Amino acid sequence: MAVLKVIKYGHPTLRKVAAPYTQDEVDEKFIDDMLDTMYTEDGVGLAAPQVNVSKRLIVCSDRENEFVIFNPKIIAHSESVKADLEGCLSLPGLHANVERYDKVIVTGVDASWQNIEVTATGLLAVVFQHEIDHLNGTLYIDRADLTTLAWTDAVTVDPARREQPATVEIVQQIFRQQYHTNADVLVFEKNLI
Ligand code: NI
Repeated sequence: MAVLKVIKYGHPTLRKVAAPYTQDEVDEKFIDDMLDTMYTEDGVGLAAPQVNVSKRLIVCSDRENEFVIFNPKIIAHSESVKADLEGCLSLPGLHANVERYDKVIVTGVDASWQNIEVTATGLLAVVFQHEIDHLNGTLYIDRADLTTLAWTDAVTVDPARREQPATVEIVQQIFRQQYHTNADVLVFEKNLI
């Protein structure tokens, strides 16, 4: 297994709509690497576009169960929503309040290429919505109440960041300097490519 590099906000792949998987494209090593990366980074979910693979695969863990789902789709959801703090491995050191459905039903195909259907509530429901958004080029900050966007207490946050407000513009500036010094193309907004 190997820990893959997680790309950061501004990388164009995060804004693409990912392509569906076919069975012959399933690669067990890649699944293991995705899981390894999620656990090593202390995440509860990871979508393939976050490791620069623009394909429809998510892995999630609610600490009790682990899910590997190809071509996941939300087929039903509750009417009720709940707002809670969310973060993302592609936006390290930040969090914001996001409204999500309380309950979702997700279908897809598992690692053995069997159809599955999962009913999720609580944290798992949030994780599914967040990760499936990644497959459509959507990030949580697109849905967040941006007045709640703030730097977290994560040790990875450069103390110099804290002196600046966590507005989207400043986050973009900081990410440009911190993660994308040599990038030719940066895409911060959705639907530009
Ligand atoms: Ni994320």
